[in-house]
Amino acid sequence: MSIPDIIIAVDGYSSTGKSTFAKLVASEFAFLYLDSGAMYRGVTLAGLEAGVIGDGKIDEAGTVRVMEPLDLHFRRVDGTTQLFLGDRCIEKEIRGWEVSQYVSPVSAVPAIRAWVDDKLHAFAAGGRVIMDGRDIGTTVFPDAQLKIFMTADEGVRARRRYDELVLKGEKTTLEEVAANLRDRDYRDSHRPNSPLRQAEDAYVLDNTHMTLHEELVWILGLLQGKFNILDSPGLSC
Ligand code: DC
Repeated sequence: MSIPDIIIAVDGYSSTGKSTFAKLVASEFAFLYLDSGAMYRGVTLAGLEAGVIGDGKIDEAGTVRVMEPLDLHFRRVDGTTQLFLGDRCIEKEIRGWEVSQYVSPVSAVPAIRAWVDDKLHAFAAGGRVIMDGRDIGTTVFPDAQLKIFMTADEGVRARRRYDELVLKGEKTTLEEVAANLRDRDYRDSHRPNSPLRQAEDAYVLDNTHMTLHEELVWILGLLQGKFNILDSPGLSC
């Protein structure tokens, strides 16, 4: 299907399945997938490892100092986009429970947001990108040609995230995970700098009762209508 080289912005609350959806769209329609949250997670991991984050505290100036020289970038590995710190793949570490505890307040620090935004613009310079996060359609790419805002019932989101963590062998409870999601959503939506909010021209995707295949059919209809595309690809899932 002949989709033009557009930027697709996918924003929404924590654990609404943004990255699963964006990865699938990227592979179906040959887009580069970029996970902006991974960048904040990478900075948080580096801060934890350097000892400027920990024991419930974040040394903001120290984290910025640790962040500035970081070589944080995405690489394509086996058909997927993964985050690297220098030559070290940190995909697994950045998804862990400890990073999740600190990443929201770390992402609220203005100097950290500015640094991440610069990197995201550089990574997306080639175009034909689908990027997910909290402020992609409002701040990072306000001119994105297609904006999607994802949401889902809170209980469903907590269960999905909990199942994911358990699969990875993390020890936590459903209540703890639900509390972390609530806390992150609140912080992400109420920070003064670039808060999570729905862009006025975003299309809302509530996937509480949807399968991935239904989500794919939904965006296909959107793309066909918006870009006047008549041919239809066979979808893979
Ligand atoms: O999508 P995620 O859960 O991996 O994101 C981790 C944190 O990063 C999330 O709590 C909010 C923050 N974030 C942000 O502030 N802006 C973005 N564009 C992406 C993520």
